[in-house]
Amino acid sequence: MFAQLYLGQCYILLHKMMSDTSKAAIYLKQDKLVAFPTETVYGLGGNALSDKAVAAIYEAKGRPTFNPLIVHVASLAMAKKYVLVNEWAENLAEQFWPGPLTMVLPRQKDCELSLLVSAGLDSVGIRMPAHPLARKLLEESGLPLAAPSANRSGKISPTLAAHVQEELGDRVAMILDGGACEVGIESTVVDLTGGAPVILRPGSITKEQLGKIVPLSESVSSQIKAPGMLRSHYAPSKSVRLNATDVREGEGLLVFGRPIKGASLIENLSESGDLKEAAANLFRMLRVLDASDVISIAVMPIPEIGLGVAINDRLRRAAA
Ligand code: TXA
Ligand code: MG
Repeated sequence: MFAQLYLGQCYILLHKMMSDTSKAAIYLKQDKLVAFPTETVYGLGGNALSDKAVAAIYEAKGRPTFNPLIVHVASLAMAKKYVLVNEWAENLAEQFWPGPLTMVLPRQKDCELSLLVSAGLDSVGIRMPAHPLARKLLEESGLPLAAPSANRSGKISPTLAAHVQEELGDRVAMILDGGACEVGIESTVVDLTGGAPVILRPGSITKEQLGKIVPLSESVSSQIKAPGMLRSHYAPSKSVRLNATDVREGEGLLVFGRPIKGASLIENLSESGDLKEAAANLFRMLRVLDASDVISIAVMPIPEIGLGVAINDRLRRAAA
């Protein structure tokens, strides 16, 4: 009895002394889910080698099973265990990893990743994140981590731990809190399995940046191959009106630059018109307007250049 009590105390003490990432790594090895910050958005992570863990991710998100998951790795060497890294991928990794670039590559012959991460395709979307907590978690667990954005399917991606807590708090063993995500919109997804690299999802790494390293295919929009790129996505519960040059009755306004007058509530993506700042604020401010008592949301025009391409992509889906 005393021995048991003593062991129990030791266990509690040990648990208290362990870092959050070590605790999270243990949960992941037990096929439990852990939400963790990346430089883009928070991810809902699970052991990518385990069908059980990957199935739990689909379950928790309410995600359609035809939509494949991104696998996060600690290094390019780790990626090579699971996917065929061609020359394009090698060059892109050298330039942009760790960072917000996901590469779709063919599965290796004896790829040990759960087939569920590929959702029936013979490829894997793979990326090496830059956020220190994500990297620590990948290193401490030693596992490849399947991690879609940690929101319910079709909803706005989370850029704060509190967003994850709200939507998925009861579905995860733990949420690692890394504060606000620096980039704020999801990684650029580039498909490298075909005759030429194709951008499947615009993100913070722009087509101009990618085009300097690989010969990008121009036929971006005609080829919708990322099954997750549904027309309606990132959706607030309120209706969203884009390119607003006036404010209508009951509208809250998402501002870029100098606000137009008349809105009862405004959130300013960037007063100075900085696209990087706007991307970092986008999802949080959409959530604030959605949770407020405005009737609908109007969004001021955002230039379709550089990061603006990814911001407008997300806004169009939010409005669809
Ligand atoms: O920044 C990000 O990418 C975040 C953080 C957590 O890493 N993750 C993220 O995952 O946005 P998710 O699941 O919300 O979006 C993944 C996108 C989907 O559009 C999916 O269809 C596409 O990547 N994708 C994943 N694997 C693919 C594959 N094998 N072939 C084509 N598209 C793929
Ligand atoms: Mg997502």
